[in-house]
Amino acid sequence: MPKLPDEFLNKTIIITGAASGIGRATALVFAREGANVVVADINIAGAELTAEAIRQIGGRCFTIHMDVTDRSSVKSAFTAAIKEFGVIDFQFNCAGSALRRASFLEIDDALWDGAMGINASGVFYCMQEILPHMLDQGRGVIVNAASMSHKRGGAGGLIPYAAAKGAVVTLTMGVAREFASRGIRALSISPGPVDTPFEDVAGGDEEARVRAVADVPMGRLGRPEEIGELVLFMCSDACSYMTADTVYVNGGGGYR
Ligand SMILES: NC(=O)c1ccc[n+]([C@@H]2O[C@H](COP(=O)([O-])OP(=O)(O)OC[C@H]3O[C@@H](n4cnc5c(N)ncnc54)[C@H](O)[C@@H]3O)[C@@H](O)[C@H]2O)c1
Repeated sequence: MPKLPDEFLNKTIIITGAASGIGRATALVFAREGANVVVADINIAGAELTAEAIRQIGGRCFTIHMDVTDRSSVKSAFTAAIKEFGVIDFQFNCAGSALRRASFLEIDDALWDGAMGINASGVFYCMQEILPHMLDQGRGVIVNAASMSHKRGGAGGLIPYAAAKGAVVTLTMGVAREFASRGIRALSISPGPVDTPFEDVAGGDEEARVRAVADVPMGRLGRPEEIGELVLFMCSDACSYMTADTVYVNGGGGYR
């Protein structure tokens, strides 16, 4: 079925990590299409800036504080979001971080647990929270932010992050297959390097950026809105036979 012009009008998406980068860009793509957007993030000031940008283009949104590593925070944010819009049709679990770089022998428990917490447990908690709601409706699409790094292993500084993203790919596959006959689709996205504050948080320097670009045949980083448009397609009925897998979006590179 083709994507209809008003397919997203008055539908609702909840986006975690919507205060910055890919989450913010995706929020604006969905707002442009007429969807209500729940802007969820641990950074409420950043979430308010996203909300302001949505309102500027005439969109409707609701901002909520959510720490994806804390199950009770996830639960109360979802309760508030459902109360605000009644129905949530789509979930984009975008919150994620590499936290910091460390060579394998220098990874301590705090870094391991932290990377697993924000990248893997966060997705697990959010999917467990939304699925009963989606199952009641008999439909829903979940998109999870994974990363090309799950394919490369993150050697040289980002192994906990890459391993956690591997968990995201597998979790998504399991949920998609378990609920495929009940109207639910779940997909993950595995981007190569995208131009967002992500690398600043992860402690990447200019040299890392130059190396990342050198590995992309298109010769540039991805733009966050290029991921947002893909999330839109994944959530649309034009994508109705696609579920479970991860989709690579990387300008032809990102394998290093
Ligand atoms: N930028 C890249 O190169 C790249 C590549 C592959 C995958 N990704 C993934 O895409 C997603 C978005 O990354 P980005 O590039 O937009 O990064 P970003 O740093 O710009 O945004 C991450 C957002 O997550 C939020 N966040 C952090 N901890 C949180 C928590 N505990 N609870 C709720 N929100 C929290 C931050 O406040 C921020 O708004 C991440 O999952 C990232 O791993 C990014």
